[in-house]
Amino acid sequence: MLATPTNTSPLTKPTRAKLRYEDITFTSKSQRQAVEEIISELTLASAALKNIKDHFILELKKGLANDGETIAMVPVYVSGRLDGSETGSYLTMDIGGTYLRVVWVVLEGQSQVKILQKKYKIDEHLKVGEAKALFVDEHSIIASFETEIELGFTFSFPVLQTTINSGTLIAWTKGFNSLGVVDKDPAAFLQDAFRRRNVPVRVAALLNDTVGTLLAHAYRHSKTVIGLGLGTGSNGAYIERVDRITKRRTVDETGAADTAEMVINMEFGAFDSERRVLPVTMFDNKIDRKSLASLYFINPGKQIFEKMIAGMYLGEIARNILVHLIDRRLLLDGRCTKEMNTDWAFDTSYMSTIEADTTLELKDTQLVLECYLGLAIPESSATMATTLTDRQIVKLVVELVGQRAARLSAAALAGILEHTRGVTWSEDDGGVDIGVDGSLYRYYPGFEADIRGGLVDISQLERDMGLAGIDVDVVRMGPSIDGSGVGAALCALLASTASALQ
Ligand code: GLC
Repeated sequence: MLATPTNTSPLTKPTRAKLRYEDITFTSKSQRQAVEEIISELTLASAALKNIKDHFILELKKGLANDGETIAMVPVYVSGRLDGSETGSYLTMDIGGTYLRVVWVVLEGQSQVKILQKKYKIDEHLKVGEAKALFVDEHSIIASFETEIELGFTFSFPVLQTTINSGTLIAWTKGFNSLGVVDKDPAAFLQDAFRRRNVPVRVAALLNDTVGTLLAHAYRHSKTVIGLGLGTGSNGAYIERVDRITKRRTVDETGAADTAEMVINMEFGAFDSERRVLPVTMFDNKIDRKSLASLYFINPGKQIFEKMIAGMYLGEIARNILVHLIDRRLLLDGRCTKEMNTDWAFDTSYMSTIEADTTLELKDTQLVLECYLGLAIPESSATMATTLTDRQIVKLVVELVGQRAARLSAAALAGILEHTRGVTWSEDDGGVDIGVDGSLYRYYPGFEADIRGGLVDISQLERDMGLAGIDVDVVRMGPSIDGSGVGAALCALLASTASALQ
């Protein structure tokens, strides 16, 4: 049975139950001072956001002009404009996070789709083991096909695309380090795997998840020009006019007209790895530095922006801050449990629970601390497991880390909007749609609201300065439904039509 995918995002997004600073019952002056320091380090005022946004635009222009710049700005050989009338049936596969997902997609036209899907958990050992194991894994769903079918392969890592269905992996990100794949073509690995198993599947399109996010949204909203992935990793894709991609090598080869459009996979997680404008704290540096020795190989010195905003890292940033306060005996009376001492043990999903905690006594926060972070104390003991002040400080730290991530994401989005305004969308012509996917966007309380808040702050400041700040009212963000299924199918379809710039 094929299923019609529904919007899996809750209709009403979880809201953040914000703590008021005035309500925190500090127990000492040094505790208050330490918390104030953290507040000032993690809070981003409008001017800082605008500065980051301006630098982001400079960097993205550099990426459009030259190969090898910090933001890679990879042209991906699809135009990105859809009207929902597209039809066809495609197989898709997605490797890029926790699951390997295989989906049979029927594009029915009129923006309607049907899907049949199967998901496999990618074991940690596969992420860092032999490439063969990662790409071959279990494809039993495919084995039953008799005639050759076309597949859209979502591969959510930085790939320098050479055609619509080939490219080379620049580097692994997000804890993957499968051997021998860097500098090679991931689509060829997959194609070989099918060939070895005599599976009649042709890899017709290779795409980044953000490209799928953009295309899937564009199938339903024709004013879509941006796709964002705000989950385990963070990245964006957008529609660019070909004459602005001045590193023309690849584009020239396609013979595309200057006025033609092409989607760019930005790989903006690498933004400001030089650390010129990002307010990198000691807590961020700690993650970056220790990443070499950790279970996860996460590119020390690289992807610094992603490390400040993506779901994979937020819990660990919060844990670093909490341990810092514990070590100074300003939190939990200096008690540090085995769990709190363990790298990556503070899962970002705990932050969502803590953010949504509306109870006066912060009971849900207490639950997280006691159940998951080893802070329960045997009933026989006279000591309290956690005090209200402890829980308030934990909640505040979590809020600061979450809000900083959303506001930094807003700076990137504001940069893309400003760069594309008047070129691929305009305020007078219906505004712009942005398809967004990823666990932070879908499930983290207040994340979208904080992104909007960041956009409004930047725009307001610019208007106050006499500049043309963007009219945020015509900027529509919405959950993109099934980028790695529907989006990848659309990409496979574009690969076989004239609109694919290949
Ligand atoms: C990482 C990858 C990028 C991907 C993003 C979101 O940043 O490098 O390709 O789009 O994660 O999954």
